[in-house]
Amino acid sequence: KPIYVLSGPNLNLLGVREPEIYGHQTLDDVRGLCEARASSLGREVVFRQSNHEGELIDWIQEAREKACALVINPAGYGHTSVAILDALKMVGVPVVECHLSNPASREAFRRETYVSLAATGVVTGFGAASYELAVEAAAGLAR
Ligand code: DQA
Repeated sequence: KPIYVLSGPNLNLLGVREPEIYGHQTLDDVRGLCEARASSLGREVVFRQSNHEGELIDWIQEAREKACALVINPAGYGHTSVAILDALKMVGVPVVECHLSNPASREAFRRETYVSLAATGVVTGFGAASYELAVEAAAGLAR
């Protein structure tokens, strides 16, 4: 089974969006890094992004049956969405949260994410490499 790698709102504009915080790599670049890291570990990824909370929830529910582990960068929804947390609590496969920036070093409202309550671990602050490290961690936890 593949590792699901889900990204939340505004990450479709990665590379253009506040590059001093999020870097110059695009989401397609990040997809390539995740695929390469997964394949070096004998895994595949299903890599998706949505600006819509409900669509992310649909994919988390899909992951219950179809994924061996889940990596999620919930973006802004991490700080607001009880519904995404509730979906993750039911997912039944290991969850690794990841962030490009280090939210703990930014505004106070970024210091907590609901998603962390359902995550085995969190990778933050390494730019695109946060995703690669999260995929590696997920592969190690995969069922
Ligand atoms: C982010 C951090 C969040 O606080 C922010 O809302 C994002 C991106 C990150 O990857 O660093 O959209 O999840």
